[in-house]
Amino acid sequence: MDPAHVLITTGGQQAIDLVTKTFVDPGDVVLAEGPSYAGALTTFSTYETDVLHLPMDERGLDVEAVPDILDRLAADRKRVKFLYIVPNFSNPGGTTLSLERRHRLVEISAERELLIVEDNPYGILRYQGEPLPTLFTLDQSENVIYLGSFSKILSPGIRTGWIAAPAPILAKIAFGKQATDLCSSPLNQMFVHEFISSGVWREYVQRLIGIYRSRRDVLLSALADEFPPGSRWTVPEGGFFVWASLSPPVNTTDLLVKAIEENVAFVAGNGFYMDGQGTDSMRLNFSGSPEDRIQEGIRRLGSVIRDQMELYRALGMDG
Ligand SMILES: Cc1ncc(COP(=O)(O)O)c(C=O)c1O
Repeated sequence: MDPAHVLITTGGQQAIDLVTKTFVDPGDVVLAEGPSYAGALTTFSTYETDVLHLPMDERGLDVEAVPDILDRLAADRKRVKFLYIVPNFSNPGGTTLSLERRHRLVEISAERELLIVEDNPYGILRYQGEPLPTLFTLDQSENVIYLGSFSKILSPGIRTGWIAAPAPILAKIAFGKQATDLCSSPLNQMFVHEFISSGVWREYVQRLIGIYRSRRDVLLSALADEFPPGSRWTVPEGGFFVWASLSPPVNTTDLLVKAIEENVAFVAGNGFYMDGQGTDSMRLNFSGSPEDRIQEGIRRLGSVIRDQMELYRALGMDG
């Protein structure tokens, strides 16, 4: 890729911030997956954006919903600035956008001149299945901005990410970058350069993939053993997260208080929506804990969920 099409940023988070700062005026609409990365939602609300969540299923974003929503918003004279998406092993959903949907989304974006912000910090951490092409490489009409990060394959502390975009878009974003911090730490960039150019990264990433795949498998089998009937969860092909949903009326924000008493934590689902959805769901991380702790954590969580359901039954609230 032509280096003129790449801008180094202070992590992927700054990339989201710079893109939003460049394109959005207060009241503009940003389309986002539902659920969506909470750090992006925080940025979108800082710039007073209206976030509209789009439906998802096990094949990722329901891209066929996009044209209808664009029509509806146009009828209301609302301006959509971009669609934000994490197509690989999404945070928090764990889902991956299918190949067919990737082609269709790029087609829709060209037809409707819809800018897509493709955030892909986890793409290289694939534990099964074939890698899929990025929206950025499928796009022929300069409508995709790609965000990358070294946080998940080297270190989050190195604070190094990047934006790849068509030159006219990147020029605008570069102005914003200068106003924010002039440039990202050259020392950290030299470190990343060495990590990549020496080839060390290949072996390191392979090691991470082996460790994370085993942790994912332990989490999935613990969920099957410990979570009550009626619970559902995603089966991620990579990344860090599983999204689990429980039968109503269990509310995961209430549940978290009880779980913490048992020394186990998750992120309650409604933090990944701007519109109050997600109260029956939770994000579970499997990358950060060894296998025995994952096993024990899910055992405790399963028991807390059963207690909570028992309580609802006793109160006649189980519908
Ligand atoms: C989807 C997604 N995008 C961006 C980021 C930000 O990462 P960083 O700023 O560390 O590169 C994260 C971090 O968790 C993430 O999950």
